[in-house]
Amino acid sequence: MLEIKIEKTQNPKPIPGPDNPLVFGTIFTDHMFEMDYTKGKGWHDPRIVPYHEISLEPSAMVFHYGQEMFEGLKAYPTEDGRILLFRPDKNIERANNSNRRLMIPEIPADIFLEALKELVKIDQAWIPDRPGTSLYIRPFVIATDPFLGVRPSDTYKFMIILSPVGPYYEEGLDPVKIWIEDSYVRAVRGGIGEAKTGGNYVASLAAQVKAHEEGYSQVLWLDGVERKYIEEVGAMNIFFKIDGTVVTPMLNGSILPGVTRDTCIQLCKSWGLPVEERKISVQELEEAARTGKLEECWGSGTAAVISPVGHLRYEDDVFQIGDGGIGPVSQKLYDTVTGIQLGKVKDEFGWTVEVK
Ligand code: COI
Repeated sequence: MLEIKIEKTQNPKPIPGPDNPLVFGTIFTDHMFEMDYTKGKGWHDPRIVPYHEISLEPSAMVFHYGQEMFEGLKAYPTEDGRILLFRPDKNIERANNSNRRLMIPEIPADIFLEALKELVKIDQAWIPDRPGTSLYIRPFVIATDPFLGVRPSDTYKFMIILSPVGPYYEEGLDPVKIWIEDSYVRAVRGGIGEAKTGGNYVASLAAQVKAHEEGYSQVLWLDGVERKYIEEVGAMNIFFKIDGTVVTPMLNGSILPGVTRDTCIQLCKSWGLPVEERKISVQELEEAARTGKLEECWGSGTAAVISPVGHLRYEDDVFQIGDGGIGPVSQKLYDTVTGIQLGKVKDEFGWTVEVK
């Protein structure tokens, strides 16, 4: 395996104190990881260096055609002073699935994991320990060839940055309101919807702004062909509990295969709850809401963790979920997922990886 060179900062920044609200994604730690790729040479020069601005030619391909991949995971502190990563192998696997779809060279899993651990270890003093906080880890790759033709780049930069964060939504664990979008679409099967890449997020902005103006925090996307079946929320996957059964849209090529989504499915099954991964139409939700069978709805994601949804709006209809508060399955998932992440609940699935 390549050896990671380490250069520590001479100018450490002040670490946010306990009064800092840690607004998601606004503060960055002292160090970052970098590694370069050159065609014919492969990935080379892995290094941890002081967090710094980067310099690229204006012609760098990432600026023009969006060839980039990103990931999101978190590091958590335990009460007995250990640091845990949650299922980093799943993020590494997904990163390389995205890379293949985006014609970005795969990153060797061993150096990827080592980079995550080493960087978190160096900046461990930045891991916040108040309830609802963690150290968000953002790995990403960008295409750097200075070239305006459309083709895969021959050079890339892989970076990892760290950000101490509080809850993703202002609402915290209070139920969010979600807008079911019926005109814009996020992705279609065969496109890049199942890859974690900026293009899917920029595609979501117009609808997100529209939803915000209407007082909704997020957009729930429908399939791009029939605009009938539920897909995902962009920053989260979505789950419903309908008449006792947990249902979530099946992975169909245009939905992001969320790590927290997989965690929810495995946990619910282990509790003996029936779980179905299948197509869910808006009409089915409408009917379930009307007959009182739409018992719970929550989103799952690394940034959002488990985020209860209090109501959904589709065209002129509002579907109220349960009694509008957090439901028992959502609460149990939140407690269990965060409990395992913080080392408070036994990790029966072997999901946590200690940073030593
Ligand atoms: C994450 O949950 O890590 C994500 O990548 C969602 C994000 C767009 C904040």
